[in-house]
This record gives sequence, structure tokens and C-alpha cells, in this order.
Amino acid sequence: MAEKAKIAILVSGRGSNMAALVYAAKSTDCPYEIVLVASNNAEAPGLKLAEAEDIATFAHSHQGLSREEHDKIMHDAIVHSGAEYVVLAGYMRILSDGFVEKWVNRMLNIHPSLLPKYRGLDTYQRAIDAGDTVAGCSVHLVTTELDDGPVLGQTEVAILPDDDAERLASRILIAEHQLYPKILAKYVTREADPAWILNRVRERALALTETHERESFGSPGWRVGSEKTGKYFAYFTQKLHGEASVGLLVKTSGLDEQAALIDADPDLYYAPKFYGKSGWIAIRLNTGRTDWDHIADWLYKSWRLVAPKRLTKMIDIADQF
Ligand code: GRF
Repeated sequence: MAEKAKIAILVSGRGSNMAALVYAAKSTDCPYEIVLVASNNAEAPGLKLAEAEDIATFAHSHQGLSREEHDKIMHDAIVHSGAEYVVLAGYMRILSDGFVEKWVNRMLNIHPSLLPKYRGLDTYQRAIDAGDTVAGCSVHLVTTELDDGPVLGQTEVAILPDDDAERLASRILIAEHQLYPKILAKYVTREADPAWILNRVRERALALTETHERESFGSPGWRVGSEKTGKYFAYFTQKLHGEASVGLLVKTSGLDEQAALIDADPDLYYAPKFYGKSGWIAIRLNTGRTDWDHIADWLYKSWRLVAPKRLTKMIDIADQF
């Protein structure tokens, strides 16, 4: 199994979601491990539980510090632990923009409502007062807006006629404990998911001028030019012609460039079957270290090689200066 993703959990109190994550991480096939539990409250019960489970802990009070100063202390402790992701589990602090930006796309939170409904506190009573028949919980990526950011997963929980906030909260908590470990596992392994990879390639290919997608022998491909006369500049391969890896096929200037690339970085490049003879190169996309700007550059280079003159003429002129 691939190396496990390293997770730091931030808690302020009880830490039941933290416990759910800690226990989930004990299973050998769990794709993450908890390397740190940190808190702004040295008395947080969650810290004691983490210690008992032999997980490194860190606590530093926010009192007397500015938001930025305290976040910096937490950030340094997280970096020191080697964590690649930050998971908020009842961390009752609003985070500074600077901290959020450092962990963009690598920080998750759980919130006890069906976002975008009921951001902030008192979510259960607000759902009951509104006469909702369902409430629930959401796991989302953290952005600089409170309880905003793309939702990664939700669980709906029915509201019973005699529910009060406490009873509803306790049932939502059961749902939280199942949702968080599952969504975190999915999120940290997304880069190995061919559907996720395909979408990232697609976004970049279709961002180029006058492009469209068309399948070729069952593989998604991208063409430049009109629907009728367009030419392929890229293909997505997943087990294409019997190959095991997930990759992107783009055009090079010819067989010499193809050979030089494979020579320089054989872990990244290979000659694709069938297309290889005409100078196309395959770039592996499931290495877990894909540089997406590099992929965008390759798509552009390949696009340029096959795009009609009317699209590249101005670029060619500009390049001469
Ligand atoms: C949970 O309800 C969670 O949704 C919210 O804070 C609470 C934390 O509870 N963000 P616990 O500390 O995980 O038990």
C-alpha cells in the first residue's frame, strides 16, 4: 500500500470526531495516519484521549496573543509534525486568512448542518425552528469564509417531531463519526482516482482556444479546431492498449524528443503503444506527485503543434520578438 497521508487534527473540546478519526486510522487499510492532535486549550479532553493512544499532542493557549500570532504557533507545530493535512474537529477558533491560505485544499472541517444551510453556531435549534424535516452534517474544505468552501460529503439525519436540539445533536454526532473518516479517506486518495485525474486534465485541455472533447477508441481525447476538421492534441489513457498506468498522451516534436524525455525521467515518461511510433509521449498521472502546471504546459505545447495556422499565427509572430 502507498504511504499513508499524515494528518494533524485540531480540537478545542470533547474530541469525539477526533476519536472517530483516530480509531478509523487504526485499520491497516486506512490511507491516513494521525501524526498530531493540537489544541488551543491544554485542558481539552480530546488531548488526553490522544495521549492515551500514543499520538503526539501539542497545546498552546490563544490568550494574550493576536489571532495571527496564535495561528503561527499552531502552524509551526503542525509543520514540525510532518502533517500534510489539517483536520478541524470542533476547533472553536476562527482562523486567520494567512493560516487558511497556507493550508488551502489541505484543510477540512466538519459542521453540524447541511451546508450551505446554517453556518455558524446553534445549527440544531435553527433547523428545528425553521420547521425542517431533515438536518445533518457536512465535511467541507476550509476557505477564508466561515463554514464555507466546497462540500466534500454530507449525511442527512431526519428530524423527529419531538426532537429538541440536544436529541438531534446526539444523532447528528453519530452521523458525523461515520462521515468524517470516510470522506477524509476519499479525499487523501483522490489523486489516485482516475475520475479525479481525468477532470483535472479535462479542465486544462478545454481551457485552450477552440478545443473540444471527443472519445477515441473508448478514451477521452481533446481536439483543436472545428468539430469537423479538428485534430487531436491529447488523449487520456487508462489501461489504453493494455497499459497499466493512468496517463496523458501528448505530441512531441518527434522521436528524438520522445527518446530524450524517457531517458531523462523514465518514472514520468514512457512511449505509449501504438501512438509512440509517431512521436507521442505518455506522461504518468498516477505517481502521486503530478505537477499540474507542467501538465498544462504540455497540453499547450501539443495544442500548438496541431492547431490550425489561423490560431497560432499571432503567437508565432509574438515569439519572434
Ligand atoms: C461537532 O458537532 C462538529 O460538527 C462541530 O463541533 C463539534 C465537535 O464535537 N464542528 P467533538 O469535539 O468532535 O466531539
